[in-house]
Amino acid sequence: MAISADGFIAKKDGDSDWVSEVDTLNFEKTIKDAGCLIVGRKTFEQYEGELYPMKDVYNVVLTNNKEKNKETNGVLISSKPPMEVLKLLNQKGFKSAVVIGGGTLNTSFLKERLIDEIYLSVHPLILGNGIKLFENTQDFVNLKLEGVEKLEDNLVQLHYKVIK
Ligand SMILES: NC(=O)c1ccc[n+]([C@@H]2O[C@H](COP(=O)([O-])OP(=O)(O)OC[C@H]3O[C@@H](n4cnc5c(N)ncnc54)[C@H](OP(=O)(O)O)[C@@H]3O)[C@@H](O)[C@H]2O)c1
Repeated sequence: MAISADGFIAKKDGDSDWVSEVDTLNFEKTIKDAGCLIVGRKTFEQYEGELYPMKDVYNVVLTNNKEKNKETNGVLISSKPPMEVLKLLNQKGFKSAVVIGGGTLNTSFLKERLIDEIYLSVHPLILGNGIKLFENTQDFVNLKLEGVEKLEDNLVQLHYKVIK
């Protein structure tokens, strides 16, 4: 996830223009390596035809609206619970899955303790308000810092393991 120094992933209106190109390329490589991504319906629709569906990977879009459920050309739109989605991906042979947000989707996986690792690219700006990394979470979760990588001047990526 690309975050601001004050922990937001986008402005309320969805603006993410501040995300660095280097980080975007890094993000795309991580997804290609995993072979699949899980994305919230709002993020998917915001970038549909632009970033998503991402080519050559299996895209899972979560929605609560069962009427939208369908599968076409490597894109599954699903109302399955997070655990069921992970089981399905596992059955398809994926060893890991990249949960790419937004904040609402992230919380639904965190709540069920289904997140093992978190990568945060901390961008050098303060957004003041917006969409949080984890929206509406009540959870208290301890993390272990596994690594820090400087992606470019002014941009570090933090790698955490979730302590379960
Ligand atoms: N900076 C970054 O790295 C980054 C990454 C990703 C996204 N973003 C930003 O995040 C913003 C969107 O975040 P958001 O929190 O508003 O929305 P979101 O998480 O992208 O999408 C929320 C929607 O996804 C569906 N959903 C989420 N969890 C679900 C679950 N467990 N089961 C079924 N459906 C589920 C629901 O869709 P329905 O309403 O259809 O039921 C829900 O309303 C965008 O502005 C985007 O640009 C930033």
